[in-house]
Amino acid sequence: MKISRRAFSKSCLMATAGATVVDAATVMAQVQGEHYQTTHAHPVPAIQDTETAEQKNERMRWFREARFGMFIHWGLYAIPAGRWNGKEIPGIGEWIMNHASIPVAQYKALASQFDPTQFSAATIVGLAKAAGMKYIVITSKHHDGFAMFASQANPFNIVQATPFKRDPLKELAAECRRQGIKLGFYYSQDQDWTAPGGAAYKTDDHQPPTFHWDPAQNGSFAEYLETKAIPQISELLNNYGEYPAILWFDTPTKDMTPELAGKIVSVLNQHPKLIWNNRLGGGYDGDTETPEQYIPARGYPGRDWESCMTMNDTWGYKRDDLNFKSTETLVRNLIDIASKGGNYLLNIGPMATGEVPPQEVERLQAMGKWLAVNGESIYATQPTLFGGEAGEFSATEKDEDGKPKFIASWKWRSTTKADKVYIHLFEWPGTTFHLDHMPRHVTGAYLLANQAPLKVTKAGEGIDVALPAQALDPIATVLVLKTA
Ligand code: GLC
Repeated sequence: MKISRRAFSKSCLMATAGATVVDAATVMAQVQGEHYQTTHAHPVPAIQDTETAEQKNERMRWFREARFGMFIHWGLYAIPAGRWNGKEIPGIGEWIMNHASIPVAQYKALASQFDPTQFSAATIVGLAKAAGMKYIVITSKHHDGFAMFASQANPFNIVQATPFKRDPLKELAAECRRQGIKLGFYYSQDQDWTAPGGAAYKTDDHQPPTFHWDPAQNGSFAEYLETKAIPQISELLNNYGEYPAILWFDTPTKDMTPELAGKIVSVLNQHPKLIWNNRLGGGYDGDTETPEQYIPARGYPGRDWESCMTMNDTWGYKRDDLNFKSTETLVRNLIDIASKGGNYLLNIGPMATGEVPPQEVERLQAMGKWLAVNGESIYATQPTLFGGEAGEFSATEKDEDGKPKFIASWKWRSTTKADKVYIHLFEWPGTTFHLDHMPRHVTGAYLLANQAPLKVTKAGEGIDVALPAQALDPIATVLVLKTA
C-alpha cells in the first residue's frame, strides 16, 4: 500500500490528537518541509547559532556542490520484507514492527537470523559512485532500535546480537574513504520501539499517551536518551574517523524538549564540520530542510535543503513492492531539484542478504550514464535564473491543504554557473529554443553531449537558439549558453 505524504502527515496528526507527540503544525511542517519557525530559545547554542556566514559557507560547501546522494535503509526489517505470519503488512517496510504490532521479544529475535553474507561495502559504494552520487547516508539505527554498528552502549546491535558479527558502518567508512565518497549516518533519536522509554508515533489502534503496543516499551524517555541514544550518537561521532559528515535525525516527538535536545547538541558541537538536518526537534532547525517523497514548488530560498525519496514506495526492503519509478522520472527529479538549489537523497533498500535489489541497481547505473555526460550541469551549480519553467500556482485550484495548487510544467529546467546557463530540455522544442527574456549576455551556445556549436540570435529581451531536429537524449538534452 502506497503511503502518501498526506496519509503520513494525517497519521502523525491523529497521533498528535493525543498531543503526546508534536503539535500538528510541526508534523505538517516537517512532512511538507515548510520552514518551521523555532520559537524556543536554544538552551545550548548550536553551531548554526554561533558560526559566521563565511564559516557556514565553508562547512556547507561540499554538500551544496554534491547535489546527489544515496540514502540506505537497511536493517532487521529486511528479513520479514513486508510480510508477517504469512500476511503482507501495509505501509513502509521499515515500520513493520509498528504496523504489525510485533511484540519486542519477537522482533528482537530476528537478530539471530540476520546474516547478510552478500553484503559488500565495495559494491555499494561502487554503485553510488557509478550512479554519480557524492555521498551516502545509511540508517545506523532506525525506529526499531536495532544498531547497525558495534555499540558498547546497547547490546541490541549487529556485532553482538547477530551471527554476522561485522560492523557494516566501519566497512563502509573504509570504502568511502578509498573511493572518495562522503558518509553520513541516519539515527532515529526519538522513536525506539525496543528500548524502554523510546517514543513511538501513533499508527493503527495504538493508544495514547505512549502509542506503545507492548508494556516492554514503557519507561522514561529521558532515561532512554541518557542510556542509549546519546551514548550511541557519541559512538557514531567518534568511532568512524572523519565520518559521519552528516547526521540525519528523524521523526522528532514532543518528548524531545529543548533541554533534552540541548544535551544532544552539546555532543554535536564537538564536531564543528558536521552537517545535521531539521529533524532533531526541541526547537532546533539544524542545517537542512528535508522534504520527503516530494519536491517543493520553488525550493527553499535561503535555506539548504534535501529532498529524500524512495525508488518504489518503501524505504526498507519489501519483496512485494515493485512499484519502481522510471529512470526518466528519477533523472528529471534530480534536475528539477538542482534547478531549485537542492540535493536529491535517493534511497536503496538492501535485502536481508546484503544485496541491492536489481531494479535499484539498474536505475542507478542508468542515472550514472546520464551524469557521466551531463554532470557539469548539476554538480556545483546554482539555481535557475528563470523560475516559471517549473510551473505556476493555480489561481483557482487548491491543493490538499487548501493552498493554491502548484501546476508543474515539465518542458525544461535550468541551472547556473558564473559563465554558463544550462538548459535541460525534457520536451524537444523543434529546431528553435526560444527564451522570452535572457538576463545575461550570451556569447555562444552548444549541446553538452557533443559540444556541437549552435547559432544564437537575439530576439527582443530574449534569444533564439537553432537546434538540430532530434534530441540527443530523450530523458534530457542539455543546451549550454555561454554568458558574460
Ligand atoms: C519517515 C519514515 C522513516 C524514514 C524517513 C525517511 O520519517 O518514518 O521510516 O526513514 O521518513 O525520510
